[in-house]
Amino acid sequence: MGNIVVLGAQWGDEGKGKVVDLFSEKFSVVARYQGGHNAGHTVFIGSQKFVLKLIPSGILRPGVQAVIGNGVVVDPAALLEEMETLERAGVNVREQLAISNRAHVIFPFHRIVEKMSEGRQDRVPIGTTSRGIGPCYEDKIGRRGIRIADMYEPEAFCAMYAALAEDKQLLAQTFDIHEAIDYEKIRDEYLRFAERIRPMVCDTAQLLHDAMQAGRRVLFEGAQGSMLDVDNGTYPFVTSSSATAGGACTGAGIPPTAIEGVIGVSKAYTTRVGSGPFPTELLGEVGERIRRAGNEFGAVTGRPRRCGWFDVPLLRYTTMINGFSSLVITKLDVLDQFDEILVCTEYRNTKAMPATFRGLEAVEPVYEKLPGWKSETRGLTRHADLPPRARDYLRFLSERTGVEVGCISTGPERDETILIEGSRLAQLV
Ligand code: IMP
Repeated sequence: MGNIVVLGAQWGDEGKGKVVDLFSEKFSVVARYQGGHNAGHTVFIGSQKFVLKLIPSGILRPGVQAVIGNGVVVDPAALLEEMETLERAGVNVREQLAISNRAHVIFPFHRIVEKMSEGRQDRVPIGTTSRGIGPCYEDKIGRRGIRIADMYEPEAFCAMYAALAEDKQLLAQTFDIHEAIDYEKIRDEYLRFAERIRPMVCDTAQLLHDAMQAGRRVLFEGAQGSMLDVDNGTYPFVTSSSATAGGACTGAGIPPTAIEGVIGVSKAYTTRVGSGPFPTELLGEVGERIRRAGNEFGAVTGRPRRCGWFDVPLLRYTTMINGFSSLVITKLDVLDQFDEILVCTEYRNTKAMPATFRGLEAVEPVYEKLPGWKSETRGLTRHADLPPRARDYLRFLSERTGVEVGCISTGPERDETILIEGSRLAQLV
């Protein structure tokens, strides 16, 4: 049995945290490979609720090695805060967590640059999480970023930091921004942060290779979702990292041949936070009903999520990009009380996914109506116990997307799950 990638098949918030936590029982290592503390993975264990932003959900399993890979951007203050919260809950973070020495560092001025760019009159705001994610990746791609390893070479770090700070000051002057930033104080604070995380910092690509060589299995945990991928998503309404399966290779430093399966996580309907095209969005009462039933509010920012019906063309597209071996359908129970459920089966006269957001805004979804099952599915653990119409709905999604549904989540708890016996997913996990 090999290594798998688990990632979002829609616009994020599909429930990956629970899925990764559940499957991590069978893996020795769980690695994040992109994004930063813009992610919000909520996991319920008994009466405890954990919202993980930067640290992989696998950390909640004692003994599982959690890895923050080189493709992740790290805000050390946010990381330390999250570590402390987990430690207070009894998690052995310092033993279990490894942080890549090649990961890029988010500084407070990245958030200010983001505010500047989101606030510009001549730009459509993306509706970001305001965590400085995009500007940090900009510095990375611009080859002026600072990586964790740099902080352990204080002289080099101070020179790089001075150049970066000068850049940002010039930018602030140009755009007439007057936020008081004490650059020296930040620099010294970061040197102290670096010391606090030092025992966990290492070459995580090497660590992953050594683990795989020793026959230990790795689960690569995606953040955000495929349609927020900077290359393949609804650009520019995307995040700034590679949220599709390919990102696992570059963001963890592993070859594509190390991956045996790719699991796509999708809600039984669709949601999106932030701006951007959303063909099946429901703006009226039905959307509001889904939002209430599914408690669709952002885990990181608390923003209400936009809600809509399941979108088959979108899933077919993300399947094409990621090569899903299997789908996990989450939040089925949210649809329990609907008389009828609509599914977008195609975009009228459009076969390919439009490349521009204008193109996607213009598509006309074609819907098929399916009867609702009007009974409780919450907490069910056996496929045979699902109401026949719920089984029909899942079969419909599987037939139309061309991917098996290997697992269904019927509630937030670990055991509120149906794993389909004999599925490819059951083999992989
Ligand atoms: P950023 O990642 O903060 O730059 O935000 C870019 C876009 O990605 C915005 O529309 C955010 O709402 C969205 N986004 C970022 N992280 C997540 C996530 O974990 N779930 C859902 N949407 C996200």
